[in-house]
Formats: sequence, C-alpha cells, structure tokens
Amino acid sequence: MSRLYDRADIYDLFETDDRFDAYKQHWEYILRDTGIHSLLDVSIGSGCVTLSLAELGVELSGSDLSRSMLDNCRKKAQNKGYSVDLRHSDFRDLSCWQGKKFDCVASTGNSLAYVTNSEVRDTLAKMDSLAADGGYLYFDTRNWDRILQTHQRFYFYHPFFSGETRVNMFQVWDYPADGSIIFNIVYTFEQNNKIFQKEIFEEHYHPIPRQLLVDQLNALGYRECKQFCFPAFLNQNADDAEWYCILAKK
Ligand SMILES: C[S@@+](CC[C@H](N)C(=O)[O-])C[C@H]1O[C@@H](n2cnc3c(N)ncnc32)[C@H](O)[C@@H]1O
Repeated sequence: MSRLYDRADIYDLFETDDRFDAYKQHWEYILRDTGIHSLLDVSIGSGCVTLSLAELGVELSGSDLSRSMLDNCRKKAQNKGYSVDLRHSDFRDLSCWQGKKFDCVASTGNSLAYVTNSEVRDTLAKMDSLAADGGYLYFDTRNWDRILQTHQRFYFYHPFFSGETRVNMFQVWDYPADGSIIFNIVYTFEQNNKIFQKEIFEEHYHPIPRQLLVDQLNALGYRECKQFCFPAFLNQNADDAEWYCILAKK
C-alpha cells in the first residue's frame, strides 16, 4: 500500500495561504513570553505547521523520515527566502543533531503516534537531550483519548480545486484488535464530473494517551506542561478538542 509521505505533492495539495497564516497565528499565541528563538521540528515534513516560524524570526531547523516531504519543505523555504537547516532522520535516533541545542524541540503534525508508546518515551528523552537548559518541548497531536472513546470511522473533508481539477478526500479508520488505528486515506481527482485518478494511502498509528505524554515529560524534569487546543487561538478546552498541543518547560 502506498505511503502518503512518499507523495508530498499530494499531501501539500491541502496547503493554502490561509492555512499558513493560521499556523503563524498559532505560533504567535504559543510563543509569547517564552523567549524561544530557535526551534527544531523532528517531524517537519513539508513544513506546513512550522515554516511560518521562520517568518516570525525564529531560527528553524527540521528533520524527517521522508525525503519527499523534506524536498518539498526545502523548495517552499527557498521560495519564501527562509534559511532552514533540514536533515534526514528518524526521530527515534536524532544523532544527526548531536552537539546542538535548541530553545524548543518540537514534533508537529500528529507524528509521534507513528511509533509505539514505548518508542515515544525514548523519543521524548532524545528530544530532551537537544533542548537547552530552561528550554521547551512541544507536541501537537490528535486527541487520541477522545478517538478511543468514539471510534469514529468516517472523516469527510471539503472538496477543493487545484486548477481545473476538483480534489476530493475522505478517510476511513480501521481499529484492529492490537489497539493500533489504520487511516485509509482516499483521494479522487476529477474534471467535468468524471474521476480520472484515484490514490489510496494507508497510515498506521499507535494512539498515545495524554497521560503518558505528561508523565514522561514530568519524569524528564518538565514540571510546567501547558496544554492548548490546536490551533491554540481557537480557545477551546484542550480536553474536548479534536487536536491539542503541549508546551512543556524544563
Ligand atoms: C502528518 S505529517 C506532518 C508533517 C509536518 N509536521 C506537517 O505538519 O506538515 C507526519 C510526518 O511524520 C513523519 N514521520 C513519521 N514517522 C517518523 C519518524 N519515525 N521519524 C521522523 N519522521 C517521521 C512523516 O514522514 C511525515 O512527514
């Protein structure tokens, strides 16, 4: 089955100037009074969530497992005139950043759930080793606790146009007995009311209980764990929100 992150061209079809501005607004909200001047995103992908940080004057670095996503991130950064240090890495390793320290080490875009819960614990420890004294760890994630209560299967998104082509996307989630969740992501492309291309991707996630994140952060010495809905400016209760984020201070 195809992996979405080998097709950054399709992943990025959802990106718009409005989304870029919304993430920028999110970071303005999150970063106020933190003194964060440098940030490493260990799942930067094509940069949808974090590239706007460069516009806010933050020194941005990023790594990711997918070369296709990194290529798109590099192109977007170049087009906008940002200088971003990008490296190819699995976030379970991170040795490519050895010797560096960042005010904030982040994993954006619900990416930590790609690995098992015990690997998440190890990943947080590796991220912590790259955070400066008094620095921060940051995550945004789907609200897995809520998902496991509802077991919602069907997710529909508004169709949109890419030039003359109408792009439709929906997802069907499977809940295997081992507790993981498989997102079946279906795209269809049509012109003149006729589908001419279909793409199906399968992404495999391991739900992360929120308490696991908070407990592990506390164990690593992050006593102040602020939780917000994601994007934060929506001002919803983080417990009920579909997505939330955590900003934890060492
Ligand atoms: C939903 S995308 C989010 C990407 C980016 N943060 C954004 O919002 O555009 C998930 C990303 O996690 C990356 N990823 C998955 N497993 C990873 C791992 N073990 N190490 C590093 N990156 C990983 C994928 O390659 C993909 O780019």
